[in-house]
Amino acid sequence: MWKPEEKIKHKPNPGRWPTREEAESSLLFTPLQVGSLSLNQRTWVPAMVPWRATEDGEVSQNVLDWYARFAKGKPGAIVIEATGIRNIPSGPLLRIGHDRYIEGLNKLVETVREASEGETKLFIQLIDFLRINRRPTAEKYFQRYLKITDRHREYFYNKLEDDEIRQKLPELTDEALAEVLTAREYEAYAFGYRERVTDVALDHIRELPEVLPGLFGAAAGRAQQAGFDGIELHYAHAYTMSSFLSARNTRADGYGGDRAGRVRLPLEVYRAVRQAVGDQMVVGCRFLANEIIDGGSRPDDAAYFGVEFAKAGMDFLSLSRGGKFEDAQQPKVGAAAYPYTGQSGYECMPQFTSDEFGPFGRNLTATKLIRDAVRGAGFETPVVAAGGIHGFEQAEAILQEGGADIIAAARQSLADPDWFLKMKLGVGEQVRVCAYTNYCEALDTRHLQVTCSLWDRKERDDPDVALSTDGKRRLLAPDWQPPTT
Ligand SMILES: Cc1cc2nc3c(=O)[nH]c(=O)nc-3n(C[C@H](O)[C@H](O)[C@H](O)COP(=O)(O)O)c2cc1C
Ligand code: SF4
Repeated sequence: MWKPEEKIKHKPNPGRWPTREEAESSLLFTPLQVGSLSLNQRTWVPAMVPWRATEDGEVSQNVLDWYARFAKGKPGAIVIEATGIRNIPSGPLLRIGHDRYIEGLNKLVETVREASEGETKLFIQLIDFLRINRRPTAEKYFQRYLKITDRHREYFYNKLEDDEIRQKLPELTDEALAEVLTAREYEAYAFGYRERVTDVALDHIRELPEVLPGLFGAAAGRAQQAGFDGIELHYAHAYTMSSFLSARNTRADGYGGDRAGRVRLPLEVYRAVRQAVGDQMVVGCRFLANEIIDGGSRPDDAAYFGVEFAKAGMDFLSLSRGGKFEDAQQPKVGAAAYPYTGQSGYECMPQFTSDEFGPFGRNLTATKLIRDAVRGAGFETPVVAAGGIHGFEQAEAILQEGGADIIAAARQSLADPDWFLKMKLGVGEQVRVCAYTNYCEALDTRHLQVTCSLWDRKERDDPDVALSTDGKRRLLAPDWQPPTT
């Protein structure tokens, strides 16, 4: 994982916790209208992949238990993890690309409703992603994958047969390989092959604008049938829709280039989804306030996109930051590059070892700029802020100062799924405060069941405690009983 040079160690500082009366009169615990829905409070658990679905992408008992645990803390909304809209294998990540998934997802909706006693609204994040291969061995890459071209033949003075070139290439230094291979070939060799939205020579990439509105629309229809309250279109991080919004999207077919071209497909996808689910279902998106990568979109691009999304009728705008493939670290042979390992990944989930700005609220300035642009254009669309938020005073100040309308906390909610409820009940001193070590994120990077180091070794032998597949960690935070008075 990339870390800032300064390496200053920041301690979480949740500040003073509110009394019950203070919580009751705060903005944080006041209802908010989001499209046709009223959230009971302005608290939000954003999407977090816990690696608990079945290999076929179905809702498992572990998925039900995971979301029930968050629901017991009764946040205003929970967003179910990034869920794939295609009917293709993608490991233990939830999927919604076929009607066979509706039943399991409906069970999830019912489970959250029951565990939160109807207080939490449930959204699902819909994602599309492109192909990425694992990093191959040099031998495999040169023998099997590399297409020998004149560029390679000329490097060897046109004296070698193609088979001989394949034998010779692995003997070259990395420096020489960077010369003889094209940049894309070198990347496929050193990182693993990765598709981009700009690969328009490939039919299935060129045709994304024709295909994606239908796929997202059908997935949204299934989410509606399953009973979700809302849909979050995943337009953030390293995935297809974010790549269309990216300033690095140079497609010349009207779906790239300037901001209007880059936002075109995200708007078309939104319209298809709206048409599929009608006016009554909440539909919004998560997108990047700043891509962080060189040549990527910046907050002024995001402000433009935010206004366009609001104008189109989206019900909420959720802002994230970074999380891109372009600056990801080189994976080991046999592993795939992961978008949260470079600087942009750090900015997405900043940890306690940081620069002078620290990990708490790094996306807030950009988020406010985008919200101001949306308000300036005459729209009241609620804006969701995330990133290192772990205290009442911090959250309430963001809302009071117009930095956002809803407070999302991912890792703090993982560290203590009851933390919103504890604050609301005036027992904030009982909150288990996230240390921002990113132990959970390291598990995510290795595609292991996500848990938190603050509780995953506690009371493992208690009855009914489910353990991770390696048998070492409990899968859920210990239960907490609210005070009776
Ligand atoms: C284990 C883990 C999985 C995540 N999965 C997703 C995801 O599926 N979709 C998404 O938009 N963000 C995902 N995120 C990012 C979080 O939603 C959030 O934006 C980020 O962690 C910063 O917020 P925080 O400081 O409150 O944790 C994930 C974060 C973690 C720690
Ligand atoms: S493992 Fe727990 S304490 Fe560490 S960053 Fe994740 S949620 Fe926070």
